[in-house]
Amino acid sequence: MDLLEKCRAYVQADEARDAGRYPYYPAFQGPADGGKAILEGVEVCMLGSNNYRALNVSPQVIGAVQDAIALYGTSATGSRLLSGNLDLHEELEADLADFFGYEAALVFATGYMTNLGVVSALVGRGDVVYLDDKAHASLIDGSQLATASGAVVRWFGHNNPDDLARQLAATPTQSVLVATDGVSTVEGELAPVAELVAVCEEYGATLLVDDAHGVGVLGRGRGVIEQAGMQGRVPLMTLSFSTSLASQGGAVLADAKTIDFLRHTSRPQIYSAGLSPADTAAAHAALREIRRRAGSEPDALAAAEHLRRALDALGYDVGGSSSPVIPVRFPDQIAMLSAQSILIDHGVYTNAVLPPACEGYQLRIACTDAHTPYALEGVIGVFASLREDLLPRYRQAA
Ligand SMILES: Cc1ncc(COP(=O)(O)O)c(C=O)c1O
Repeated sequence: MDLLEKCRAYVQADEARDAGRYPYYPAFQGPADGGKAILEGVEVCMLGSNNYRALNVSPQVIGAVQDAIALYGTSATGSRLLSGNLDLHEELEADLADFFGYEAALVFATGYMTNLGVVSALVGRGDVVYLDDKAHASLIDGSQLATASGAVVRWFGHNNPDDLARQLAATPTQSVLVATDGVSTVEGELAPVAELVAVCEEYGATLLVDDAHGVGVLGRGRGVIEQAGMQGRVPLMTLSFSTSLASQGGAVLADAKTIDFLRHTSRPQIYSAGLSPADTAAAHAALREIRRRAGSEPDALAAAEHLRRALDALGYDVGGSSSPVIPVRFPDQIAMLSAQSILIDHGVYTNAVLPPACEGYQLRIACTDAHTPYALEGVIGVFASLREDLLPRYRQAA
């Protein structure tokens, strides 16, 4: 059979487009300000980004990018192993290690590649990786890659250290990696880091926390590990620059020997070009800003708390997160997709998330430092009429 036959037979996206409920690849136009965006020429309140500190429009970050391009040009021009390693990368790595309290750091081209590259390089024949049930796709894919070199993958219940402990107790002595998100991407819940540390220490397992959504926001900017008081107790931490660090890229933090091993063995690191000068400079400038602001609570957290309470009072099922991320659950796919498109029509952009990225049907809301109380009042008003009037009318008409 023709290999591409499956593409011609793929109709799901067309069906959603035809029904006017296709939620993906909206094309935003500038200028963005961290709290707003322009969609089809109309301003919307942007509640669908990971731009928690709104640093993508910070003059310091933009200035650092302009300086880096002027000096280094637009590309790292090769793999860091051979010709694409810049002093900019090494300066960023030194500051990341210092800020997060690790011996060393290694920068990758994306957060996804960081997890892929770390897990697949560290885990192989004779090793077991235990993944949290809701671990990010990049941890899952890294683990699947590791199975090609003989690793075994197992799962433990989401944020359930007792389940992990039960399984580890039953595992004969093997070297074990335990990997979890620090903040779940869609639900926004925090991982029970202290309990996971205790279990891993008891059973001699190595813990990896991917804190893509905690860094910059929680724990005075140092993320969920610091918030849990577990600095120095989590051997491997990964992060993405595409969230609070307002850039592209990712990094792993660990002891110096582990980082040196990864520098020389991690295939996504070796066989891909280094992070561009602009992205490296943006992440570094954003890190400096986060460090400078570490004494005050990010506005994104207060905004999310206010919005969460208001949506809860309106009768929405918003789960129990304590991060800038709020899930809003709907009974079925049509209700969720309809709600998303009605919200857009009323100037509010949220993310539609479907299984397998989450259980059930959820809109994912994420607040940033740029969401003013005034903007949030408008959003709450739209959610109030969505529930009382717009969605029931829309469903009747459908
Ligand atoms: C938990 C988690 N890890 C890793 C990533 C991948 O990050 P990046 O966008 O830098 O590839 C994401 C993406 O948002 C994420 O949610």
